[in-house]
Amino acid sequence: MKMRNKFRKPTTLRCNAGSRCTLSVILWTLVGFLIMFHLRYMVQHRAVQGGEDIHLHTSYHPVFRELENVEEESIKVPPPRKRSPRAEKRKPRRPTTLIDEFLDESSQIRHIFFPYLRTAIDPRKDAGNDSFYYYPGRIWLDTDGNPIQAHGGGILYDEMTGTYYWYGEYKDGPTYHAHKRGAARVDIIGVGCYSSKDLWTWKHEGIVLPAEETDENHDLHKSNVLERPKVIFNKQTSKYVMWMHIDDVNYTKASVGVAVSDSPIGPFEYLYSKQPHGFDSRDMTIFKDDDGMAYLIYSSDDNSELHIGPLSSNYLDVTHVVVKALVGQRREAPALFKHEGTYYMITSGCSGWAPNEALAHAAGSIYGPWEIMGNPCMGGNKVFQLTTFFSQSTFVLPVPGVPGLFIFMADRWNPADLRDSRYVWLPLTVGGAVDRPLDYNFGFPLWSRVSIYWHKKWRLPSMWTAVSGQK
Ligand code: GAL
Repeated sequence: MKMRNKFRKPTTLRCNAGSRCTLSVILWTLVGFLIMFHLRYMVQHRAVQGGEDIHLHTSYHPVFRELENVEEESIKVPPPRKRSPRAEKRKPRRPTTLIDEFLDESSQIRHIFFPYLRTAIDPRKDAGNDSFYYYPGRIWLDTDGNPIQAHGGGILYDEMTGTYYWYGEYKDGPTYHAHKRGAARVDIIGVGCYSSKDLWTWKHEGIVLPAEETDENHDLHKSNVLERPKVIFNKQTSKYVMWMHIDDVNYTKASVGVAVSDSPIGPFEYLYSKQPHGFDSRDMTIFKDDDGMAYLIYSSDDNSELHIGPLSSNYLDVTHVVVKALVGQRREAPALFKHEGTYYMITSGCSGWAPNEALAHAAGSIYGPWEIMGNPCMGGNKVFQLTTFFSQSTFVLPVPGVPGLFIFMADRWNPADLRDSRYVWLPLTVGGAVDRPLDYNFGFPLWSRVSIYWHKKWRLPSMWTAVSGQK
């Protein structure tokens, strides 16, 4: 039975008298304006507060001024090589672009993208004034004089020993195609580990998780794929935990693998692989938050979206919680970091070993919503910016003692000879306004811009060493 509530007031605005109606409309409009004004004030206030911080930390600080200097590059594309009239007729040559030159193994300017060994960064030499300089793209030698093999890698800072450990794919083997249309590959050799106190001089600590040579059914059998290994330390168990992308030669297994060790330099014991939360997982990373919680972030649903889920307290598994982010955006190579309570992420597009445009993202919670803030690359030239300086993100390392300064770590893949892929390390800063409207904030700039600056050569400001007591 329907009861009539005689005490209930009508909720709709009745306009019997024209003047009363106009008054209400004016009142409500005023209230609306006030709310909007307040909201805008709050947002601006926050932005200004952030801006002041940024002023202190970035633009006006000489350290940042140097790193945030926008360095232009002009590379001349060589004239097309002479071809026989017959070849010309068969296939007319299209204009050669810088990206064509980068992808062309026999390009006359290949040494610009993959400089010769004689220009290598060599910590064994007394480099004098050149010491501690990063040269993105140059071969980087370890303390034994061998090119560092830590591709798709990440860095762990070990508080116990005050040492940085760089883990990555050890790819010092021949590159080949398992199938005509398959991606270029190197058999699994294992995870390389390098230690350093100064983030420049790296000692090879060996292959801390080696391939399996004989058992063809093993995940780590050399015929499979092991990519993007990352290590974090679990305080509760005092174990070093490694997560990695595990796949078969055709990238259909799409799983994560987990390994564990008592020491940062291994040996790591391989535990298992799985499809996390029952989903396919390809490019991935792990992120350890300030409160000790750690998360797995992986490209899923055929790389169309990212999934983010917390790890169990011992970091050896995921839990049942998972959220989807950047759905439909087709992003991979995620690299996460946090600054002043905000989560940031750099991702790449999906084009195999070929470089593409990076995007920066931000979120107030690791579970999102994740905003797309645009391309973070500054300097070089347009092609440099559209190709992430001819590289792909793998990790972002906070520089201790210099809040707001990070090292952006990326791989300049060389699919013709993957072992000769290069490292592109560049300064990344957080500050300034974002350059595209945001979806979830009504266009208000809640987050600061993430910028990665191109430099032919650069070094960390000396204050990082003073504060962190390294070197
Ligand atoms: C990329 C990925 C790399 C590797 C490569 C193989 O998309 O980021 O880690 O898997 O594809 O083609």
